[in-house]
Amino acid sequence: MFSGKARAYTNIALIKYWGKEDQELIIPMNNSLSLTLDAFYTETQVIFSEEISEDRFYLDNQLQDSKATVKVSRFLDLVRSKAHCNLSAVVQSQNFVPTAAGLASSASGLAALAGAASAALKLDLAPEELSRLARRGSGSACRSIYGGFAEWQKGDSDKTSHAVKIPSAGFENDLSMIFVVVNDSKKDISSRDGMQRTVETSAFYPGWLTSVPQDLAKAKKAIAEKDFVALGEVTEASALKMHGTTLAANPPFTYWSAESLQVMNLVRQIRNNGLACYFTMDAGPNVKILVERKNETALLQALNSHIATQQLVVAHAGPAIKILTEANGTA
Ligand code: ADP
Ligand code: DP6
Ligand code: CO
Repeated sequence: MFSGKARAYTNIALIKYWGKEDQELIIPMNNSLSLTLDAFYTETQVIFSEEISEDRFYLDNQLQDSKATVKVSRFLDLVRSKAHCNLSAVVQSQNFVPTAAGLASSASGLAALAGAASAALKLDLAPEELSRLARRGSGSACRSIYGGFAEWQKGDSDKTSHAVKIPSAGFENDLSMIFVVVNDSKKDISSRDGMQRTVETSAFYPGWLTSVPQDLAKAKKAIAEKDFVALGEVTEASALKMHGTTLAANPPFTYWSAESLQVMNLVRQIRNNGLACYFTMDAGPNVKILVERKNETALLQALNSHIATQQLVVAHAGPAIKILTEANGTA
């Protein structure tokens, strides 16, 4: 029996990943840049054992159906083949984040699975190798290997496509991200399907793609200079451009709901009143607001009269993936 356990935190992209060049290997069309957060995470344990004949996947203590299990099994196959192991596994995962709601559960979920499975089979992967492995499960997961800011460098092969940590002299600790959870149920169109449809059919997609290098350069400069306003502006612009592409897809779609628009307007209003804050959104209706930590309380106060407290989650920069070991040395 071989057991491994890991905790990985979600990350939210400030410069979005949107589109794949290679769907099998998950090589993206563009580089992306993210902030790992402390408020949402996944803990996963993987036990490979002679005593079971097929993989079993429990998410939040519920045995998952064959469709969900097949996804996990395919990922475990990658790990098994690296380790020359043919044992089946029991996977027990807890999401401390709503699943498939646009709150990045695939990032923490697949990073934790990669960490737990590779620890169980003693692969002893360096961060970049673990990032490459996590990428094969979900693109955004490759960034959750690192704490703070990370850049997924698209590369052009399995070997060269992985995330790296962005040196930031602690700038991430000056930031807060307020999540406005307008709906935490499962989205209709997964990130995977949404981006693929967009790449294949959206007339706006080429515009998105050509705009990314400049936005990425702006974001990296802003981080290097600890320039919050510049980082906020480019973060909001990247999200708006990404969401713009979906409107021109065929069939067209949007992840925005009426509530998302209300929150975006509220952020603009608060900003116009002098408090620097910027929104971003992922493949789902929930809005995330980037603010300087010193202004977190002021922002919460400004949101207070418009949004119920239960809908707000405050996050700060989160740590790297952690391989969890029991006191007796086993995972
Ligand atoms: P999200 O916005 O939450 O990242 P996605 O559409 O990108 O939504 O991905 C959701 C999918 O990620 C789920 O349907 C499931 O396949 C996978 N996933 C989420 N959490 C876990 C987990 N803890 N373990 C394994 N897979 C997970
Ligand atoms: C909008 O990483 O969830 O959140 O690679 O198909 O699993 P797959 O998709 P996923 O896509 C995330 C898209 C995004 C932007 C981002 O996180 O960069
Ligand atoms: Co996802």
